[in-house]
Amino acid sequence: MKILITGTAGFIGSHLSRKLLNNGYSVVGIDNVNNYYSVDLKKDRLKILLESKIKNYEIDLEDHNALMSVFEKENPDVVINLAAQAGVRYSLENPHAYITSNVNGFTSILEGCRHYGVNNLIYASSSSVYGANTTKPFSTSDNIDHPLSLYAATKKANELMAHTYSHLYNLPTTGLRFFTVYGPWGRPDMALFKFTKSIVNNEHIDVYNHGNMMRDFTYVDDIVEAITRLVDKPAESNSDWSGANPDPSSSKAPYKVYNIGNNSPVRLMEFIEAIENKLGKTAKKNFMNLQPGDVPETYANVDDLYNTIDFKPETKIQDGVNNFIDWYLEYYDIKL
Ligand SMILES: NC(=O)c1ccc[n+]([C@@H]2O[C@H](COP(=O)([O-])OP(=O)(O)OC[C@H]3O[C@@H](n4cnc5c(N)ncnc54)[C@H](O)[C@@H]3O)[C@@H](O)[C@H]2O)c1
Repeated sequence: MKILITGTAGFIGSHLSRKLLNNGYSVVGIDNVNNYYSVDLKKDRLKILLESKIKNYEIDLEDHNALMSVFEKENPDVVINLAAQAGVRYSLENPHAYITSNVNGFTSILEGCRHYGVNNLIYASSSSVYGANTTKPFSTSDNIDHPLSLYAATKKANELMAHTYSHLYNLPTTGLRFFTVYGPWGRPDMALFKFTKSIVNNEHIDVYNHGNMMRDFTYVDDIVEAITRLVDKPAESNSDWSGANPDPSSSKAPYKVYNIGNNSPVRLMEFIEAIENKLGKTAKKNFMNLQPGDVPETYANVDDLYNTIDFKPETKIQDGVNNFIDWYLEYYDIKL
């Protein structure tokens, strides 16, 4: 089976590619290695994959012709679309980047899947689609009509676009709403990386909403395990689905969305303590207001995921944070 993964130089994409290569799949990658954050970090992630014989194309998703030639040449059975402009806060600064990668780019992915007979499209959505919802835990059966950032709106748009292709062309599509993913090789724009770096350098960390935040932090290996189990489980039509009472998580068409979260939210202050414990240092804290676009709490209901793949994320926060910091200190050659 040949799998096309986009976002191979990215945090989650590099972990996933490594695992699928190790499991014996033939993996082809796409990543434009853009400079949203450190290009060196992306290249180092790719370097490891290239040693494992991945074939990688450095193209933009939104370059429709280039993308179609990859589909034509490689003819993948499964496509896993992780490439996107990520980040909630940056979507206030550079909204167009989100439309270009996440909406235009995703349209080309759908077209490629349609024209080249892909039998399973899996794509990254996000917990941010729950936006202004306050009923916890968040369920894929909830209405998600109130996004709080353009990033979230593009992820919801992806789900809607996927549904139309599932309906019109019988393309099995599975959307995965990831909840704050963390772990080794993590993203420099995310809290764990920023906090660790600042604490190591004796600099202040910005603690948003005065520390009154909860996140359902999900360890990257758990995300990768869940995606791996979905590779040979394409979405199927739900025969019980009714347009009179439409369940948002499935359809008469082969369409499905899942939450992938730890189902166990952690207080932001507890998260910072886990970093302090591992580093043996106390953080200097700048308490600040909630940032525009941010939500105070995320919490995933993962019953549906568990019923389908017999697995749910369970890594304890201190274990995951320890693994990240071990990687960080080794990668940047830091002695404490
Ligand atoms: N990390 C998280 O906590 C989290 C949470 C929810 C959803 N997600 C989603 O999961 C996916 C992977 O996230 P990540 O944390 O690995 O992000 P990442 O930024 O590390 O990886 C994305 C990769 O895609 C590439 N890319 C971006 N736009 C592209 C384009 N137009 N064409 C080709 N390549 C492009 C980037 O160079 C990058 O290497 C993204 O879709 C993201 O929105 C991540």
